[in-house]
Formats: sequence, structure tokens, C-alpha cells
Amino acid sequence: MTIGVLTGGGDCPGLNAVIRAVVRKCLKQKQGNKVIGLKNGWKGLISNDTMDLNLESTSGILPKGGTILGTSRTNPYKNESDVRKLKENYKNLGIDALIAIGGEDTLGVATKLSSEEGLNIVGIPKTIDNDVAATDYTFGFDTAVNIVTNCIDRLHTTAESHNRIIVVEAMGRHAGWIALYSGIAGGADVILIPEEPIDINEVCNILESRHEKRGKTFSIVVVAEGARFKEGDIVTKDQDVDQFGHVKLGGISQQLANIIEEKMGYETRVTVLGHIQRGGTPSAFDRVLSTRYGAYAVDMAMSGNFGIMVALRGNELITVPLEEIGGKTRTVDMKLYELAKTFFG
Ligand code: F6P
Repeated sequence: MTIGVLTGGGDCPGLNAVIRAVVRKCLKQKQGNKVIGLKNGWKGLISNDTMDLNLESTSGILPKGGTILGTSRTNPYKNESDVRKLKENYKNLGIDALIAIGGEDTLGVATKLSSEEGLNIVGIPKTIDNDVAATDYTFGFDTAVNIVTNCIDRLHTTAESHNRIIVVEAMGRHAGWIALYSGIAGGADVILIPEEPIDINEVCNILESRHEKRGKTFSIVVVAEGARFKEGDIVTKDQDVDQFGHVKLGGISQQLANIIEEKMGYETRVTVLGHIQRGGTPSAFDRVLSTRYGAYAVDMAMSGNFGIMVALRGNELITVPLEEIGGKTRTVDMKLYELAKTFFG
């Protein structure tokens, strides 16, 4: 059997661990099996840009961040001829099964190629945002939460020394999982997420009561980049959109800081964590999850189970039809957000 593998969308820690698991599992399963890496997401299949994935080329990559295959936000459906080229290359390369590792956009393309073009696809959910429907966890999320928690710990000591408020901006386009988990783990005083529009008066009241009643002289506010004010819109860097129509988010933390400083007179600083959340070595949890996803995806491919995404439910690996995840976002558990509020202020 020949398996093709690609990584699409934003990178995240654990991609190489999945690639390694796919190769090791596939080659061990049966002599003659082969794995072809498609470079830079769907672009590699459109342009026939490949690399041989074998024991040697995947040796030592388990702890490495990023993806040895490269990634891109290429959308083959932007151009009719790209879908045709992609199908031709899929056929000419002799691919029997394609493992597509990605988030909502990559898996959305996988869904169409599977249902409309008949390609044999197994999806694996990836994104630090943890917002892919039908799975409890995407790999990459745990690492990002650990990075952000560590940053919050560090920002605490400087905020306290300078008697400042620090507003920390975490990634999280449609869902506030990273802000919520790291905010709880890091003891943030306010956590703001896309799921609940920001009431600025409420934020100021919380901070005021913390400073005036509890006598605290510093605070940490964690905000997800996709959060917006009750009466406002999401804050974007510019008007450019990628091939899937997404704008670049960023700037909500500065807006918040400006208002807090102006309304309350507390000295305020901003830290935008940005792509540092996606870089570097995966956590042990993500290495294990990535390894399980990769090996299970090969099992599914070998047994001819296509048009599905592998997923984690509880601690069990399951499969979900690709059609069931399209267009859905897994937003945060609001019960957990309510719990987090217990510790605000
Ligand atoms: O896909 C996850 C993500 O990290 C989002 O949280 C963020 O908005 C986006 O990617 C950033 O994308 P880019 O790497 O294209 O700037």
C-alpha cells in the first residue's frame, strides 16, 4: 500500500510526531508498503512536490516542532484546474490512501475531495486552537497551553514588581481554549474569550475591586485574539484574507489596555504572544496523542476506512465521518468558563 501524507494550515507542535508514527506503523505493517510526503499542504499534491518518507528521513523528528513537510494555506478549490491537477498527481503517484493532517480548512478540503472526487482520505485533527469539532483534543493544544502558562507565570513577577496590569493576548480565532486553559493554569485575574463578548465595564469593575478592595497592585488579563467587545467587531491587523477567507487577527489586547489605562489610571502593558505559541518542541502529552493519531490513521487506511477523521473521545480513539465536522467549531465548555470566573478579581 502507498500512503500519501500532508500537513496543511498553521503549523503546530506534534506534526512531526504524527508523520513519524505514520511512517513507522505503515512500514512495519507490511513489506513493500510505502509513504510519500506531499510538501506544503495541498500545494504539494497540486504541483507534484513530494519527498520520500522512510525510516531514515523521519529519524529524530519526534521532538522537533514544525513540520518536515512544510505547510501552507493553499485551497485547491480556489481554482478548478488545481483540483484536476491534484487528482492526476494522486493517481500518478499511485496513492492508495491519503492522510491529511490539518484543522478546519484542510479537513474541509479533505471532505470535498473525499465525497465529491472519491479520494481515499483519512483526516487527523491538528491545531493549537483545539477548535475542531467532534474530538476532545487536537494535538498542539497542550503544548500551546504550557507555553502560555509559562509566559503568564513570568509576566506575574514583572507585573507585581512594577504594580502594573498586563494584558496577555493568546491565539484563539473562534474559540478561547488556549486563553481559558492557560488563564486557569496561570491564575489570571480576568480571562476573555470569543465565546462571550467583552463587557468593558464588568472588566473594569473586577479590576477595581481587586485593586481597591483586595489591595492588589497588579493584575493579569488574558484575552484570546478572537475576542471582541460587546458593541464592537473582531480586531484585525489589516483587511487581507487568506485562501480560505480568514483575516489576520490581532490588536484586541492593545485596545483593552488603552481603555483600562484611560478609565482606571492603572499603568498597563501588553504582551502579544503570537507565533511563539506554535513553535518548538511538543509536550509529552502531544507527542503521545500525535503518535496515537498517526498509528490509528494507518490502521484505518489499511482497513479501507476512508472519508473519516480520527478523533479522541475520553481517552479512546474513534472515527468520525468527515462530513460531520465541516463548518462546525468546537467552542469552549462554558461550564469551565463559569468555573474560571470564580477566580476572577
Ligand atoms: O490556526 C491556528 C492559528 O494559530 C490561529 O490561532 C491564528 O489566528 C492563526 O493560526 C494565525 O495564522 P498565521 O500563521 O497565518 O498568521
